[in-house]
Order: sequence, then C-alpha cells, then structure tokens
Amino acid sequence: MTTTENPTAHGSGNAATDKFKSERATSDTSVERAAAIYKDMLEALAGIVHKHEVTYDEYRVLKQWMIDVGEYGEWPLWLDVFLEHEIEEVHYNRKHFTGTKGSIEGPYYVPNAPKLPSKCTMPMREKDKVAPPLIFKGKVTDLEGNGIPGATVELWHADEDGFYSQFAPGIPEWNLRGTIEVDEDGNYEITTLKPAPYQIPNDGPTGWFIKSYGGHPWRPAHLHLLVSAPGKRAVTTQLYFKGGEWVDDDVATATKPELILDPETNSDGIAEVTYNFALDPEA
Ligand code: BEZ
Ligand code: FE
Repeated sequence: MTTTENPTAHGSGNAATDKFKSERATSDTSVERAAAIYKDMLEALAGIVHKHEVTYDEYRVLKQWMIDVGEYGEWPLWLDVFLEHEIEEVHYNRKHFTGTKGSIEGPYYVPNAPKLPSKCTMPMREKDKVAPPLIFKGKVTDLEGNGIPGATVELWHADEDGFYSQFAPGIPEWNLRGTIEVDEDGNYEITTLKPAPYQIPNDGPTGWFIKSYGGHPWRPAHLHLLVSAPGKRAVTTQLYFKGGEWVDDDVATATKPELILDPETNSDGIAEVTYNFALDPEA
C-alpha cells in the first residue's frame, strides 16, 4: 500500500483505492434495471444543468476535478463521504431489517484483523495512550435477545490524530484493529481508547470540493464495527458519543440517534459503556 513521509490525501487515497481494487466489484444488475438507473441519472444531471444554467467554464472545472479525483485515488473517499449513507439507508429499509442499525463502512475497513478473545485490549502504541481509555462492552444477540456464541465483533478506529493503520505511514499494521470473538453467551468487553473527531483527508480534490461550497471536513469521534454471526445478517455500523463535536453535522451524514453511546465513569475512573447488537436473520 502507498505510504509517504507525512500522511496526505494522495497517500491515504491511493491506499484506499488499492485496497478497493484488490477485490473486483461485481453486481447482477439486469440490463432493464441498468437502463432505468442510467435514464434517471442523466435526467437528474440534465435537471441540474438547466436549473443552474451551468457554464462551459464550470463544466471544464468539473471535468478537471474528476480527473484529479481519479489521479489522487480519491474516488473511494469522495463516494463514501457523499453517497454511501444513502445506499446504506436504502439497503436497510428495502430489506425491512429491525436489528441494530447500520452506518457507512467508509474507505478504511480491512478484513481479517487478528483475532482477540472476548475480553481484550486493542493493539495500540504507547503514544496512542494520550487518548483516554474506554471500556466498550455488551452482547451480540438475535432479535429475541438470545446471546449468539460464535459471533465476532470487528472493531477499527482512528488514533488520536485521526489516522488509520494501513492508510497512513508509520503505524503498525493492525494498530487499533481487531476481530473479537464473543464468549459462549455472546458477550464481549474491549478496552480501547476514546477516539477523537477527525477531518477526512482534505489536502486533495475531496478537500477542494468541500472548500468550493464553504463546507467543513469533520467527522465526529466514532468507532467502526462489523458484527457477524453464522446464519445472521452481518451489520456494518459506527458508534458515536453523546454531546460530541460534529455529531449533528457530520461531513459524511452517517450518524443516527440509535448509534450514540453515553459512557459513564466506572469505579476505576475509566469511561465505560455497554452496547448490545441485535442481528437480523440472514435474508
Ligand atoms: C470514516 O469514517 O473513516 C470515513 C467515512 C467516509 C469517508 C472517509 C472516512
Ligand atoms: Fe472513520
């Protein structure tokens, strides 16, 4: 994966693109469905061009910008910030799921993180410990509340500076990443660090795009999770922190009221929170 001396949008963008390309995406979309989507897409674009009387200069800037996004490897970043939340919502609603709500995966998931026992501490560097510790615990259940032995909780999150291992240089490969195997009752208890809000990489074309409309690049502090169990629908989600900065104004529009944690300080003075995941049956 691409690394450079300092983390840049170009570096993390290329790493995200390399990772995405490592599995070629496919879909069984019929010709009829493709035709319907293509027609509506062109109609929507035509509507925008006419409504705003888009100029030739603006059209050329768009062309240049799209070339730049590709060259910087930023399509996974741009699409996951601005479009993925809509896809995720449609996916959840269409299938009438009632279990734990999902949220966007984003560009920084890496499968096959090292396995960790149900009670564990996430792999972290000494320097990561400037962030306050967080005990994150709970149970993985079916829709009736029965614990599921054999479930796994994949957890990944950014360090204090907002960087993810494998997408920024100099961070150990599996830092702040793990696949936690729940116990025989479906329980887990993970000691990690309370993540900080971070800015998505914005020194490249995604950042120029945000600047062009006077927006901001911030995401609220969050944990990323992928919870799976045999015979159940796996849920990809994120958890946020009550009252946290940017929770109500996330650049990626990926927060939901059901996904907000409210940790309390335990008797050892450590922030601790319980969150249970309910998994829908496999479709
Ligand atoms: C993230 O949560 O890590 C993320 C999501 C969308 C775009 C970039 C980053
Ligand atoms: Fe993230």
